Amino acid sequence: MKTYQIATLEGDGIGPEVCQAAVAVLKAATPQTQLQFEQLPGGANHYLRSGHVLDQDTFTACQNAHAIFHGAAGLPEVTYPDGTEVGNDLHLQLRFKLDLYANVRPIKLYDPAFAPLKDLKPGGIDYVIVRENTEGLYASRGGGTLLRDSVATDTLVITRHGVERIAKFALELSRTRHGAPSDSVRRLTICDKANILRSYAFFRAVCQDVAKHYSDVVLDYAYVDAITVHMVKRPGSFDVIVAENMFGDIISDLGAATVGGLGIAPSAEIGDNHALFQGSHGSAPDIAGKNIASPLATILSGAFMLRWLGQRHDDASLVEAAQRIEKAVEDALKDPLAVPADLGGKASCTAVTQAICRRLA
Ligand code: IPM
Ligand code: MN
Repeated sequence: MKTYQIATLEGDGIGPEVCQAAVAVLKAATPQTQLQFEQLPGGANHYLRSGHVLDQDTFTACQNAHAIFHGAAGLPEVTYPDGTEVGNDLHLQLRFKLDLYANVRPIKLYDPAFAPLKDLKPGGIDYVIVRENTEGLYASRGGGTLLRDSVATDTLVITRHGVERIAKFALELSRTRHGAPSDSVRRLTICDKANILRSYAFFRAVCQDVAKHYSDVVLDYAYVDAITVHMVKRPGSFDVIVAENMFGDIISDLGAATVGGLGIAPSAEIGDNHALFQGSHGSAPDIAGKNIASPLATILSGAFMLRWLGQRHDDASLVEAAQRIEKAVEDALKDPLAVPADLGGKASCTAVTQAICRRLA
């Protein structure tokens, strides 16, 4: 039996409960596989206890594991002297130190009833935001200037290497999909502000250079302000969107909102040698410990992890388990008693998890 070491960082707020729920689902879906979830400390609460948001031992365990699975991190009241949040540093450090350059955020509509938009059909929204995850405006984190309490700057960093690899990732991803729901066309939408800033014009030009080798994928362009309108008015026209770090951070929350919210938005942060899987939401401390948080984003991120592990290690049983989890989620959401509060239901975290595990049994 193949064994996979999963470095598990439950984190803060709802992180532990949604992570534990997802681990139960992952174990139910892989009875023939040895997934070893190694519980590791990290996040804002750990910082309060130890002075470290991410210990060296924890980082080493993440480096050596087959994958990293994360609940959520951060407590608003726990900040560094410069005002930035401690908890966010946990996965920002992992992102930058492990070079997790592709932040992959599927936006998928499971039921039109979950969406705040009208006139949608089931499956009417199904695209992926591929967010560059190691440079852009985030490259300056901790490195900007703060002068005489009168001026602060952060620099937008766009490199040819960084854009080439994220554009390639996005184009390769489009080739594995069936195109946009509205017309089944394999399409890469480059999201930028090339009309105003040379750095974004450079981002667009490098994406175009890479796309020359992918004549089967149609190129589309959207300025970041305009794309927020299209994501609301014609969400079915998207297949894959590629964006710089900060723009990707912003539009991925809007995308999640159009299909029901961050509670059903998985994410994968993928590099050439490591990957971290977590829901796109935060630690929601206000609802922590009440068993009302939706585990769906973390469960779907777990399925994403199994698929990535299966493809990386040529293990078809994991890819099949990922498909069964996604199907179990889809089926469970057809049962009103299994719909969590953020999607309009009343199901507790436990009830959602049990409904999915029953469908996997
Ligand atoms: C996200 C979050 C993170 C980000 C924070 C928590 C560091 O907003 O993953 O979208 O800004 O990327
Ligand atoms: Mn975000």
